Amino acid sequence: MKYITPHIKETADGSHTLFRDDLDEAYHSYHGAVQESLHVFIREGWERAAQKSPREISVFELGYGTGLNAYLTLASAENQRVSTVFRSIEKYPVHPDALRKLNYRSIDVLSPYADKIEAVIALSWDELHEVSPHFKLEKIYGDILEYRGEKGTCDVFYFDAFGLRAQGELWGEKVFQIAFELLKPGGILVTYASNGSARRAMTEVGFVVARIPGAPGKREMMRAEKPLKS
Ligand SMILES: C[S@@+](CC[C@H](N)C(=O)[O-])C[C@H]1O[C@@H](n2cnc3c(N)ncnc32)[C@H](O)[C@@H]1O
Repeated sequence: MKYITPHIKETADGSHTLFRDDLDEAYHSYHGAVQESLHVFIREGWERAAQKSPREISVFELGYGTGLNAYLTLASAENQRVSTVFRSIEKYPVHPDALRKLNYRSIDVLSPYADKIEAVIALSWDELHEVSPHFKLEKIYGDILEYRGEKGTCDVFYFDAFGLRAQGELWGEKVFQIAFELLKPGGILVTYASNGSARRAMTEVGFVVARIPGAPGKREMMRAEKPLKS
């Protein structure tokens, strides 16, 4: 496996993010990496899915990155005792030594799970692992543009690609169609972005899209639902 080692930067809530010089792009909002992930993916994604299916939910993530969304989902799954299967695809894995330098284990909500975070960093790729009683994780080494998972199996899709300027090819109908097919009817996609071209592409493949208040520092984000009948 070929790893990359982006630079570490601190965001406004004190939590770290990574920065890719070649793309001039950060992995999270500078207004607060943990704040953004909690708002966009946990509250608007995982918690809504858990309300609909409190016994077990299946999450798919585009862009494993630092692993922050996986850690926060693990903490939510354990705190609320909702069995969660989390699959996340990554084309450019970050070196485990770089992941260990991030300060996520000292964040309040994650510190009880510090040993689990270390275990997650060391996990092999492309296998489903039982990390804790309510959390299973598969880190998938691959390109979303070529990914074909089992259709209709996923409750929530975390769409966490780099921004439109850096990676326009991921914000069109092709990837939204893949997400639409992976989701169950009634499943939801959440993303930190609210740009019009992505909203139109989501609508084109069949999603019903809502613009809702964004994480601190961003006016809006999008939450899209796959209709029960499509
Ligand atoms: C905004 S970051 C994700 C942040 C991450 N969710 C986290 O919690 O740290 C975008 C991620 O998408 C990954 N990526 C870029 N192109 C990809 C592709 N074609 N397929 C899968 N992952 C891709 C990047 O390497 C990067 O890790």
